[in-house]
Order: sequence, then C-alpha cells, then structure tokens
Amino acid sequence: MRSPPHASLSCPQPSWIRDQFNRIAPQYDRVNRLLTFGMVGGWRQRMLRAASPRPAAVVLDLCAGTGELARLWLRTHPDTARVVLLDFAERMLAQAPPKFPGQPVQFVVGDALHLPFPEAVFDTVLCGFSLRNVGDWRQAIAEMYRVLKPGGEALILEMCKEPWPLPVAWFIRRAVPFLGRLFSRDPSAYAWVPESIDRFASGEEVVEEMQATGFTDLRRHDMIFRVSTALVGRKG
Ligand SMILES: C[S@@+](CC[C@H](N)C(=O)[O-])C[C@H]1O[C@@H](n2cnc3c(N)ncnc32)[C@H](O)[C@@H]1O
Repeated sequence: MRSPPHASLSCPQPSWIRDQFNRIAPQYDRVNRLLTFGMVGGWRQRMLRAASPRPAAVVLDLCAGTGELARLWLRTHPDTARVVLLDFAERMLAQAPPKFPGQPVQFVVGDALHLPFPEAVFDTVLCGFSLRNVGDWRQAIAEMYRVLKPGGEALILEMCKEPWPLPVAWFIRRAVPFLGRLFSRDPSAYAWVPESIDRFASGEEVVEEMQATGFTDLRRHDMIFRVSTALVGRKG
C-alpha cells in the first residue's frame, strides 16, 4: 500500500491528495454508494434541508468532486442563479458536466486554500466530505468565510473524528479500506478514508473554529452514530 508522503506530519502533500482523487474519479460515485450502503445521498439531502437559501442565490460548491452535492442542490433549489463547482482534481471535476445539462453551472480547477474569487461574492458555500482532505482545514474555513456575502451561509458535511461504537469504528477502519480497494481496484485511495478522519478534528472542534472565524447561528446535525455530520453557520 502506498502511504502519504510525510505521514508523520499533520497532513500529506496536496499533490498526493490530488493524485488519489484523480485516480479513483471514474469509480468515485459508485464506490461511495456501495461503501455507505446507499446512505450518502440521504446524508447530502439532510444537509441541504438545513439550508435557508436566498432567492437567485450564487452558490459555491467547494471541493465539488464529481458534482453530486451541486446536482442535488439544483434539484432542491431550482431558482438558484448559478453554482460554481471548484476542485483541484481535474478528473473528479470532469465527471460532473454531464450531470448539469443546460443548468447554470461553472467549473473551476482551483485550490480551496487560495480561492480565486474576491471577497463576499457567494450567498452559499457548500463543502461535502472535503474539509478533512484539504490539509489546512482552518484555512479552508477562513476562505469560505471570506468569499461569503454578509448573511450568507456555509454548509459543511463531514466525517469527523468521533467516539463511534465499536462495530462502526471497525467498519470504517478495516472494512472501508478493504472494500474500497476491491470495488475501485485502487491499491491505496480508500485507506486514506480512516487516516484522514484520524488526522482531522471532532465536530465540536470544527464548530469552535467556525465560531472563532466569525460564523454565527451555528447548527449541527449528526447522522447515524455521528458517522456523518452537517455543520451550518452564517457569516455575521
Ligand atoms: C471526498 S471528495 C468529496 C467530493 C464531493 N464534495 C462529494 O461530496 O462527493 C474530496 C474532494 O476534495 C478535493 N480537494 C481536496 N483538497 C482540495 C484543495 N485543497 N482544493 C480543492 N479541492 C480539494 C479532492 O480533489 C476531492 O475531489
């Protein structure tokens, strides 16, 4: 198994992360559904239900990957003015365009830690299962805050570091890397799932960081033994 370079440091190289996702891009949606027993769509919908979007909102899907979150957003909120999907793994992003025929979307290859947008341009920022992948997740939260308009909303969906019941911990630590390798035929990408969670933070720590950044009206929705957590905050 290939392990991340500088495994003893707090996060691996961004190029290593990007390569992992570029390699599994064509299988990503299918393997995600298999490994979560189809629950991943429901988790995304749960987060989107917590949103209170403005009419004709301009939305950023940060680390959009194959665009599943943006696709569901547009289905739930068809009056959205525009959704910008940003990711640094161009092969992940390349899976997305067929999902948006004739819809107001824009694709940007870019870095979540240095967003290529001015301040205060988005009404909503979405970030699905990505904060633990970006390396400096605090910097990503600061960037989300910067690009939001005053009163705009950030919605984060993540697998945080939580004290799961033993069978759940076993499934995530042992079964996910094994089944991920089997389904995706990639030797290492799914070993990164438990490792990235271990290197990440608890939901509480993410909430504290959002608060420290300036987010208000913070809400948290835990799903299935806190395997997945939606965190919502407003730019004060
Ligand atoms: C687990 S996938 C999640 C994709 C999608 N949001 C979803 O809900 O399925 C994580 C994504 O984060 C992207 N990513 C990680 N670090 C990034 C960074 N610094 N800048 C931009 N994208 C990044 C990866 O390329 C990958 O597509």
